[in-house]
Order: sequence, then structure tokens, then C-alpha cells
Amino acid sequence: MTIFEAYNNISKRLSAAGIDDSSFEARAIIRHITGLSNAEITANPMRALTEFQENNITAILRQREIRYPLQYIFGTWDFYKYKFKVGVGVLIPRSDTEILVETASDYLKDKQSPKVLDLCAGSGCIGISLAKDYPDSAVVMLEKYEEAARYINQNIELNSAYNTMLLMGDALLGDGGVIEYDLIVSNPPYIPQSEISDMNAETKFEPETALLCEGDGLLFYKTIAEKYKTALKDGGMLAFEVGFKQANAVADILKENGYKDIKKIKDYNGIERVVCALK
Ligand SMILES: C[S@@+](CC[C@H](N)C(=O)[O-])C[C@H]1O[C@@H](n2cnc3c(N)ncnc32)[C@H](O)[C@@H]1O
Repeated sequence: MTIFEAYNNISKRLSAAGIDDSSFEARAIIRHITGLSNAEITANPMRALTEFQENNITAILRQREIRYPLQYIFGTWDFYKYKFKVGVGVLIPRSDTEILVETASDYLKDKQSPKVLDLCAGSGCIGISLAKDYPDSAVVMLEKYEEAARYINQNIELNSAYNTMLLMGDALLGDGGVIEYDLIVSNPPYIPQSEISDMNAETKFEPETALLCEGDGLLFYKTIAEKYKTALKDGGMLAFEVGFKQANAVADILKENGYKDIKKIKDYNGIERVVCALK
């Protein structure tokens, strides 16, 4: 089978499985199994695949047809400017979250040796990205669940982000809030149970503990805004990723807790995705 045939075959099967961006994925799968770049694929459409590569495609398609996430199949995923290991037990870093990292990174640009706390750290994609952007920073990443936390350790190694530290703990109990931080950043679980059925098929393979938040989905915002205020330096920033239509409610929570300069920032789809404020 040639690259061209494989590309068409993969696109068709992914499309039939209900996957929206089947052309993007087909190209990603060919890159993954051949090790070729996009430019090399485009320049060599008639190159024959080996039997091993064809078998790999078949195995990947079987997994994608039951909507097992592509990111888990590949085992690594690009986020912001860096690469992260992902797999069962950890939330896949979303491109939506890059706006939170950009906001936080921008805030840190004038700070000398800033101290940063990433609450609900998952793969570590937020904390490690900031640590890489600012090698003179010290970043603490707090995570409750062991299955997720083991990816943080792997991602610290993968990115040589040795100005970071993993702390096992519960953000709802205020764990890790003893130091005075310049920045506290968090993408907590925020999906109310009532909305879980609207999510795409791949999310059922991700941990519910990373996605679901009891009640209206605001518990982590309320608790963090209140419990971690004393852990922020005066003038320090608290920055959250928020769910669809949660921005106003989160801005109100920050206001009620006495934060100032509250800002709502849109993602690339025009959705208010980040709410941040200063102490
Ligand atoms: C929405 S995910 C975000 C992961 C990562 N920060 C990202 O942006 O991809 C939320 C994370 O919070 C963790 N988590 C859930 N409850 C927690 C709690 N009470 N304390 C600390 N971490 C918690 C989950 O295991 C998950 O890794």
C-alpha cells in the first residue's frame, strides 16, 4: 500500500467512525507510523509502506474506531511549546488550555525568580510549560491522584524541568498553600454531571476525576479563591481555566473574595476560557 492509498483509507474509516477531523488525523497517523514529516509525506505520496507499518495502521484504526483517544495511542502530545507524555489515567492536555498558559506566562515576564503553584496539575502541562518558559522560576504542581501524578514525574524528566516539584495533595483542603506564591494557576475539574453526556466519545476513556465536579461545577473555583488567598503574595495573580459559560460566575466568585483587576479572556474559538485576577 502506498502512503496515498493509506491516507485515503484511514480518512474514510475515521470518517465512518464519526471522527470529525479525519484528514488531520490520517496525516498524524502516517507521520507517527513512518516517522516522516508533513513535507516528506506530501513529497512522497507513492512511497510504499512496509508490512509492519500497514499492521500498525490496522491496529491504530481498530482503537480509533472505538474512539480510544489518538493521544493515548501515540503516548505523547504537543501542548503549547512542549511535548507531554499522556495515557490512561491522565487528562489529555487541550489546546484550549494554552490560553491559560499564555496569560500566566505573560504575567510572569517581569518577575524575578517567581514562585508558581499549579493546582490540579494532571500531566503537568501548565506547570511544566511555565517552568520551561522561566528557568529561574520555582513551580509546585499539586495533584490528588496517583494515576495522574506518575505522568507529572515522567513529564518533568521528558522536559528536563528540574525547577519544578510534584506535591500529592487535595486542592479542596488547601494543601500546598503554605508558601507565598507570585502566581496560582489552575485548570480544575469543572464539568457538571448534567453535561458529561454532551462530551465527545473519546472523553469516556479519560478519568472522571479530572473532568467532573459535583453540583454546578464551581466548587473548585469557590474553594481555591477562598482557601489559597493567603498563599498569594499581595499583587499576585490567580488564574483559572473555566468551562463553557462559567466565566461570569467565576468572576463573581473572585469579586466576592476581594480580588481586583478581574479579567475574562477568550480562547481562539471566542469562548471566555480564562478568568484571572490580582490579590
Ligand atoms: C481538568 S484536569 C486538568 C489537568 C491539567 N492541569 C491540564 O490542564 O491538562 C483536573 C486535574 O485535577 C485533578 N484533581 C481532581 N480533584 C482534585 C483535588 N481535589 N485536588 C487536586 N487535584 C485534583 C485530577 O486528577 C486532574 O488531573
